[in-house]
Amino acid sequence: MSWTAQGRALLTSWATQSGRLREHHQQLRLGLLGNLGRFRLVGGAWSRPIVDMSYSRHFLDFQGSSIPTSMKKLIATKLSPNFREAVALHRVPVPLPGDDELLVRNRFVGINASDINFSAGRYNSLVKPPFDVGFEGIGEVVALGLSASSKYAVGQTVAYFRPGAFAEYIVLPAKEAVPVPTVKPEFLSLLISGTTAYISLKELGELSEGKTVLVTAAAGGTGQFAVQLAKKAKCRVLGTCSSDEKSGFLKSIGCDRPINYKTEHVADVLKKECPEGVDVVYESVGGKMFNLAVNSLATKGRLIIIGFISGYQTPTGLPPGNVEMLPAKLLKKSASIQGFFLFHYMSEYQAAMKHLVEMCEDNELTCEVDFGDMSPEGKFTGLESVFRAIDYMYTGKNIGKIVVELPHSVNSKL
Ligand SMILES: NC(=O)c1ccc[n+]([C@@H]2O[C@H](COP(=O)([O-])OP(=O)(O)OC[C@H]3O[C@@H](n4cnc5c(N)ncnc54)[C@H](OP(=O)(O)O)[C@@H]3O)[C@@H](O)[C@H]2O)c1
Repeated sequence: MSWTAQGRALLTSWATQSGRLREHHQQLRLGLLGNLGRFRLVGGAWSRPIVDMSYSRHFLDFQGSSIPTSMKKLIATKLSPNFREAVALHRVPVPLPGDDELLVRNRFVGINASDINFSAGRYNSLVKPPFDVGFEGIGEVVALGLSASSKYAVGQTVAYFRPGAFAEYIVLPAKEAVPVPTVKPEFLSLLISGTTAYISLKELGELSEGKTVLVTAAAGGTGQFAVQLAKKAKCRVLGTCSSDEKSGFLKSIGCDRPINYKTEHVADVLKKECPEGVDVVYESVGGKMFNLAVNSLATKGRLIIIGFISGYQTPTGLPPGNVEMLPAKLLKKSASIQGFFLFHYMSEYQAAMKHLVEMCEDNELTCEVDFGDMSPEGKFTGLESVFRAIDYMYTGKNIGKIVVELPHSVNSKL
C-alpha cells in the first residue's frame, strides 16, 4: 500500500471508530477514573501520572466491520499426540494489539503434520498447558498499534507463521507478518510447506541438472513443493504416495515417476528406475520408508530428514527402526543424512517466501490446497473442523496442503 493510501486509511480509521473502540475507550476511561482514588492532592492541585493514552494509539477496522469482544480459539489443556484429547475449543476475549503489533482476523489456517507433535509438548518440553496451538494463518489486519502503522494499515492482507493460529483473531508482532497480495489459501500453503521444501533443498540438496531426487509423501503439503522445485532444478523426480489419484496429481505437477506404495514395491521400482541409486532424498515418512530410502542412496547420495510422520501418533513420536546398520550403510557409499528444521533457518525465511509468492502469482508453481471436500463430513469450515482436518491428514487421504476456512460470524465489509 502506498504512503498516501496508508495515510488515508489511518485518517479514516480515526474518523470512523467502531463501536468496539468506543467501548474500549469507555473501559479505559473507567479504568482511569477508578485510579483517581489513588491520586494525591498536592498544593490544591491533583498530581497525576502522565495520562494513559494507549487507547488512542490503536487504529481499528476502518471499513466498519465490527470486531466482536470475544472469539473462538483452540487451546491445548493437556499434553497428548491425540489432538482431540489435548485440545479444546474455548471462548476468550479478542486480544488488543500493542504498539508494534497487528490484530489479524484469520480467514484460513493451515494444518500441519506436527500439530500433534506440538499438542504432545514435543517442541519444547518446558512449555506446560494451557497453550495456544496452530502454526500458520492468513487474513486481514483489523487493528494495529501506532508503530506498526508505519508499515501496515487496516484492511491489509498478511500471512504469518507463529503458534496460536487456531483462533478467529490473533495478535502478532508487525515484523513477523508477511504481506501477501490477497487472502488466497494458496499463499498459506507456502508459509511452512513451501518454505520447508525451498530452503531445505536450496541449503542442503545441492540439486543440479540430471540428478535423481526421491520425494516421500510427495503429494502432501510440503512434498508437492519438493517435487516441483526439484523439477525446476532439472532433476529427475520420483515420488511416493498411497493412491492412484495421488499418482495422477503427481504426474500433473511434473513428477517423472510417481510410486503408489500401496500397489507397487518401492525398493523394486527404485532398483529398476535408478540402477545407480538416488542422489537426493526428501524424506518425510520415517520407519520402513526411511530404510528403503537409505538403501536406495547413490554413491555420495544425501538424504534430508524432513520428518517421520509414521511415528507421530505413537507415545514416543518415533517410528520403530533399526539404525545400527546406518554407519556402515553410509560409509560404504560416502553418503550422508542431515536433518532440517525450518525454525533453524529463519534468516532465510523472508527471502524464500518472497520468491515463492512471486512464483505462485506467476503461475510457475502449483499450490494445491485440500479443503476436505472429499472427507466424510465435507469441507473444513470453522475452528471446530480443525479436529476433523487433522484426522483426515492422518488417514493419508489429502492431496496438497490441508486448509481450514474461518468464515466471519460478524458483519464484515472487508
Ligand atoms: N522439518 C520441518 O521443518 C518440517 C516442516 C513442515 C513439514 N515437515 C514434515 O513434512 C512431513 C509432511 O508434513 P505435511 O504437514 O506437509 O503433511 P502432508 O504431507 O500434507 O500429509 C501427510 C502425508 O503423509 C503421508 N503418510 C505416510 N505415512 C503416513 C502415516 N503413517 N500416517 C499419516 N500419513 C502418512 C500421507 O501421504 P501418502 O501416504 O499418500 O504419501 C499423508 O497424506 C511431516 O513429516 C512433517 O513433520 C517438516
